[in-house]
Amino acid sequence: MNQNPNQQNQDIYNIACLGSGYTAGLTMIMMAFHCDVVITMLDVDNEDIDDWEAGIIPFDEPNFEHMFDQVRNVRLMFGQSNNIAAALNTADFIVIAVDNPIQRIKKKNTLNLTKWKDSWEQVAMHAPDKLNPTVVYNPEFYSLGTAFNDLQNPRQVIFGGDAQILNGPLFHNVRKLMYWVDQNAVFRYHDIKSVVLAKLGINGLLASKLSILNSIASISAAVEADMNTIMEIMGRDQRLGPTYLTPGIGFGGPSLERDTRLLCHVAQNKGLLKEEQIYTKVLENNEAAEKRFVNMVVDKMNGTTNKTIAIFGLASKHGISDLTNSPAIQVCKLLLDHDVYLRIYDLYVPNAHILGNFRRGVQERVVVATSPVQAATNASAICLLTDCDAYQHGGIQFYNQLFAVMTQPSYIFNGRQNSGINWQDVANIGFSIHAVGRPSRGLGFE
Ligand SMILES: *[C@@H]1O[C@H](CO)[C@@H](O)[C@H](O)[C@H]1NC(C)=O
Ligand SMILES: *[C@@H]1O[C@H](CO)[C@@H](O)[C@H](O)[C@H]1NC(C)=O
Ligand SMILES: *[C@@H]1O[C@H](CO)[C@@H](O)[C@H](O)[C@H]1NC(C)=O
Ligand SMILES: *[C@@H]1O[C@H](CO)[C@@H](O)[C@H](O)[C@H]1NC(C)=O
Repeated sequence: MNQNPNQQNQDIYNIACLGSGYTAGLTMIMMAFHCDVVITMLDVDNEDIDDWEAGIIPFDEPNFEHMFDQVRNVRLMFGQSNNIAAALNTADFIVIAVDNPIQRIKKKNTLNLTKWKDSWEQVAMHAPDKLNPTVVYNPEFYSLGTAFNDLQNPRQVIFGGDAQILNGPLFHNVRKLMYWVDQNAVFRYHDIKSVVLAKLGINGLLASKLSILNSIASISAAVEADMNTIMEIMGRDQRLGPTYLTPGIGFGGPSLERDTRLLCHVAQNKGLLKEEQIYTKVLENNEAAEKRFVNMVVDKMNGTTNKTIAIFGLASKHGISDLTNSPAIQVCKLLLDHDVYLRIYDLYVPNAHILGNFRRGVQERVVVATSPVQAATNASAICLLTDCDAYQHGGIQFYNQLFAVMTQPSYIFNGRQNSGINWQDVANIGFSIHAVGRPSRGLGFE
């Protein structure tokens, strides 16, 4: 654990955090590791808090375990729902970090602020003096899987709120507290609307970028161009940058879809129809990417009824356990509509979290496998739905093993980039390999 070199003039010692999810958890671990503070993480949901108290980080986020072990019960405490009053009362700084899920009700995107309002009421009830009116917004810019570096070395830390508050002593204290943030990082305060919209704008633009790239992959397939070449050339253009330029099954995760829906919601509320349509199209096009992938599978396999398909990777991206809005789950559901049997393997997702994503009627067609070979046994096809290292770097040996246990003909459908593999070598084993927007290889495609 670190010590704040500015400790003498530190003014915040007691922090209460309402919420114990991903954003709350990681931010508070990072804060507790660096600063001599006492943080109490609180939630009305005792189950999550039970996990935290038992020393379990309830999601996979590389590199946080070590920090967590050091701060747990030293600087980072946990309060059950019956401790909320006491913790809020002694706090000199309160963080509310609960999700604000955007929901689709009757085709409209609607904000559900229930959790936020509940937290707010807790503060109003137990610590009314602290409402006085110092409320600011701090958007999270970090990303699943890279959160450690994003929080340890942020390029910018942004607060939105009233200028008077933000220029006052409280925020100088916050800056002092966050001493580990590089001096060159932008640490700034702006009006709240600009800050919120900037955050939505970033995710809206990333979602659009991926959505357009997927449509280019689709056009590329139609005109029989090579998407690998297209991606390589596009990625070298400095104005674009190489990220979010991988065609596949579309975007997912907790932020991109939510923030794109929020943009729709705001535009709609303000009567900005054209603006709303842009983001509606981005979301529709993302769903289309999932459908295109499944159509490719059904097409190339000449029908899938009663065939077994192995799914490698179910999370919204590689290396995480989060299944929120995962496009891989959508792909599985669409495949099940085509009467397949699925064997799902994801190294990072706890088995218990997988089956619950499928409705009762189809659950009996889904098996959760504990290894890639087990998933592939007697399967006709493998769908690669995350960029798992095993599929990229397992080498030819890995694919030889899989081929040996599968039924013939054996297909691989690549919903990700998986750039580390020489697909021609894999095709030479005897696989028939297909990816959106890229030339097919193997059986019948030499
Ligand atoms: C809003 O969210 C809360 C808490 O997550 C949930 O209990 C409630 O059912 C949601 N409301 C609607 C209308 O979906
Ligand atoms: C595809 O399936 C149909 C019926 O299911 C069959 O008649 C046809 O011969 C199959 N085509 C190939 C190329 O296997
Ligand atoms: C698929 O399996 C079910 C149950 O075993 C069977 O009733 C059905 O006829 C099969 N369909 C085809 C097209 O093989
Ligand atoms: C695979 O198929 C063989 C032959 O039909 C069968 O004996 C074996 O039990 C099957 N294995 C699995 C894991 O389904």
